[in-house]
Amino acid sequence: MTKELYGIIGDPVEHSLSPVMHNAAFDELSMDALYVAFRVPQEEVADAIRGAKSLGIRGLNVTIPLKEKAFSVVDTEEVAKRIGAINTIDFHSGSPVGYNTDGLGALQVLKETVGVIETRNVLILGAGGAARAISFYLDSEGANVTLANRTKERAAVLASKLRNANSIGLGAELKRHIQDSDIIINTTSVGMHPKEDATLVTADLMHSDLVVFDIVYNPMETKLLREAKKAGVNMIIDGVKMLVYQGAASFNIWTGREPPVETMEKAVRDALVL
Ligand code: ATR
Repeated sequence: MTKELYGIIGDPVEHSLSPVMHNAAFDELSMDALYVAFRVPQEEVADAIRGAKSLGIRGLNVTIPLKEKAFSVVDTEEVAKRIGAINTIDFHSGSPVGYNTDGLGALQVLKETVGVIETRNVLILGAGGAARAISFYLDSEGANVTLANRTKERAAVLASKLRNANSIGLGAELKRHIQDSDIIINTTSVGMHPKEDATLVTADLMHSDLVVFDIVYNPMETKLLREAKKAGVNMIIDGVKMLVYQGAASFNIWTGREPPVETMEKAVRDALVL
């Protein structure tokens, strides 16, 4: 009866695939561990984290909309400090320590598919929490980052914190910019279930040498990715791999073990087609 307990806090959280993914990893490694989803309102984040520590929970993921709030109530490692948000809490040193593995997950996906990121022109759609984590890593890798956001001011603030980034709005500027881009990453919720027919970029604006990466994984093939197919783009990346890689990085922080990423990816893809 010494099952190790892990979990995710968010609101809403019932559709999260992290339980399916991490429990598949525990099974694969024959670990006596369980991962559960906990719905936690914003104002109770600090209590929930304190309670998790008291209950002996080994690790937590943090998801929308709690990543910034959780950041403000725990100690964090350096990268998370620069990003200003966390998606992972580790309890094994006694007091909780926050990490952000979102950007690392995205960077790993891109390195695996695109190779070298340095000097590539990367257009990031959005300037929220996910954009902050991803742009931090891409900027550190030496990419030329452009942030395109509905609220242009928010993109400008984020760009000013990076080494080599600029900001634009979503109108005509965006159209022009796509022509010079090598990689487009959608970090907004546009296209996510249930509003599956929405996209910020359509086929007529794309060129076939682009890499188009959507971090939305539900549906796996978003409207943005369907438009990319229509435009003849041959490097199209859905959001599942990023979910898996950020989760794998959390798993490694908590357990010190090599995460079974293929098993984790299969569990997520199977759950999404159900
Ligand atoms: P997350 O932590 O998931 O990134 P967030 O911080 O709320 O969530 O950021 C959501 C991002 O999606 C923002 O860039 C938001 O644009 P604004 O800054 O203008 O709000 C973007 N977004 C959400 N819905 C959008 C829509 N319908 N059209 C364009 N952008 C949208």
